[in-house]
Amino acid sequence: MIYLVYGVTASGKTSVGKLLSEKLKVPFYDADDFHPSSNIKKMKNGIPLNDSDRKPWLKILRKNIESWQKDGSAILACSALKESYRSILMDDMKIPMQFILLQSPISTLKKRLESRKEHFISPTLLDSQIKTLEVPEYGIRVDSNVELEELVKLIVKKVSKTNDLGVIGMGTMGKNLSLNISTKDFSVSIYNREVKGKEENVAGDFANKNKDYNLMPFNSLPEFIGSLTSPRKVFLMINSGHPTDEILTQLMMILDPGDIVIDLGNSYFIDSQRRSKFLAQKKIHFLGIGVSGGHYGARNGASFMASGDKYVYKMISPIIEKISALDNNGKSCSSNLGSDGVGHFVKTVHNAIEYGEMQLIAEIYHLMRFHLNMNIDKISNVFKKWNKSDLSSYLLEITSKILDTKVNGVHIIDLIDDKAESKGTGAWGLINSIETGVPFDTLSSSLMFRYLSSMTDERKMASDTYQINLKKGVIDEKIIEKAYSAARVINHGLGFNLLQKTSVKYRWDLNLSEIARIWTNGCIIRSKLMNDWIEILSNKSFEHPLLHVSVVKELKKLQPSLSELLSVAIKLNCSLPVHSSSLNFFLSFTNKSLPSVIIQAQRDFFGMHGLNFKDESQMKNFNHQW
Ligand code: 6PG
Repeated sequence: MIYLVYGVTASGKTSVGKLLSEKLKVPFYDADDFHPSSNIKKMKNGIPLNDSDRKPWLKILRKNIESWQKDGSAILACSALKESYRSILMDDMKIPMQFILLQSPISTLKKRLESRKEHFISPTLLDSQIKTLEVPEYGIRVDSNVELEELVKLIVKKVSKTNDLGVIGMGTMGKNLSLNISTKDFSVSIYNREVKGKEENVAGDFANKNKDYNLMPFNSLPEFIGSLTSPRKVFLMINSGHPTDEILTQLMMILDPGDIVIDLGNSYFIDSQRRSKFLAQKKIHFLGIGVSGGHYGARNGASFMASGDKYVYKMISPIIEKISALDNNGKSCSSNLGSDGVGHFVKTVHNAIEYGEMQLIAEIYHLMRFHLNMNIDKISNVFKKWNKSDLSSYLLEITSKILDTKVNGVHIIDLIDDKAESKGTGAWGLINSIETGVPFDTLSSSLMFRYLSSMTDERKMASDTYQINLKKGVIDEKIIEKAYSAARVINHGLGFNLLQKTSVKYRWDLNLSEIARIWTNGCIIRSKLMNDWIEILSNKSFEHPLLHVSVVKELKKLQPSLSELLSVAIKLNCSLPVHSSSLNFFLSFTNKSLPSVIIQAQRDFFGMHGLNFKDESQMKNFNHQW
């Protein structure tokens, strides 16, 4: 850490710096000792230095700072009047610095200057320096017009304040997470980037509004890092992709070996593996942790899907466990699930299941509302009733609340644009299912449905052109309940199967039962059903989650209702893409002989791609002479 004691001439930089050096047991340097003789001559003659005089001097200082930093800490007394000068000193934020600005009334400064005999600064330079000084938002500012001992005591108190951890990114999730952590008796530094006109003093404003919490705001990254105890624990809660890489590049330059960066955002798991390797070049640790629970979970307890070195995780697990939701047995919904990238992969599959679960509820709402003559209140009541049964889930609970919400007397659901967006995790899940060659029909149709929902103009034209008759009919509520239940079991089974097959592919040895356990609370797909999966998945010997004896028993009971629901819904011209993709998957999965025989024959017919006969003792990988 470099402590920069700065300010105009006669503000007390040297005396403060020297005493501070004694108190902190850190070497002291005076920037004046590094001026080239031409600068000293100018100053003695009362000629103010200009930018081109100062640049070479600042560069010499920066070189020295680099070597002082290698040996540990140092205190530098330097005028550093302009932002651009300070930027040179900290090498564009690569060097962690604590800024201590000394301020005094002009009259005091003038008096001090007049009493100086030896110093080469001419008193006439004071006015020019005061004009040049750019006072920044960041750093410590102290009134140096007090007794020296007292002043340095105050500075020591301010600079030695070190926090347990830092959170970067003050979006909704970052803010709520910081509040959650700070209520668990951890002191938290918070940082948000500065973007003129868009993101200004975000961390400062947030800390101001939440004075009862233990939050220390920063808008300078080096200062933020400088405020943390070693090894530093830096939690990232920022947008995935480029912004994450950008901040990691900056952190790489200012963090020290042994420090820990924890990415809590939704990141693609391959990126997390790459980032871990990137930081490892400087022996900085990286942990990728998927977090689910939205802003409420971030504030009150979420589900944390962690991964990375187990010894490194141990250093932060006391924090994670305290901010997690608790399962039915009071255990925290957090776990270190494996090596680099695994946590973010598991979060991706969580979201893939989430896509299916959201869509299934949406389809039932649509069927009931527009084809079964049920009004919004009635549908909400059905969801409430289901939520007291084995179908209970967080998503069902919030959907009935959504249906109950009105704006100016109108149901909000009738005011919202019907375009569903997606931020990427669904697509990542699908890419992975494609790359691993594992079907996840409910995910693909959920995702395709979101894309289709955004084609508003075409949809309107198609609706006007085709004038499809949206018919009304009757379906027994019990049939709908069982059909929905069957589709959910299939959706979950496909998600867990993707986890299992990917685990085998990469030799991750994922503990699926433990994953189900940490998904029983805090996360978006928490439900009664998830509790059942803990037990189901504890048996490691099944080929596919849908082949577990208890799942088989359940689906044998439920599937006929799914078939019935769809046959009626199709006749009513009601589309239920995810219910039907779950049934289609199921009917194909459970059928020993599939029409793929024709596809394989066609491939060989037109492209000589090869054939196998079923009977393994017969022809293998041959081309038929069609
Ligand atoms: C969660 C959510 C959360 C977020 C999704 C939104 O588990 O807390 O999944 O991560 O809501 O990223 O994803 P889409 O924008 O893709 O729907």
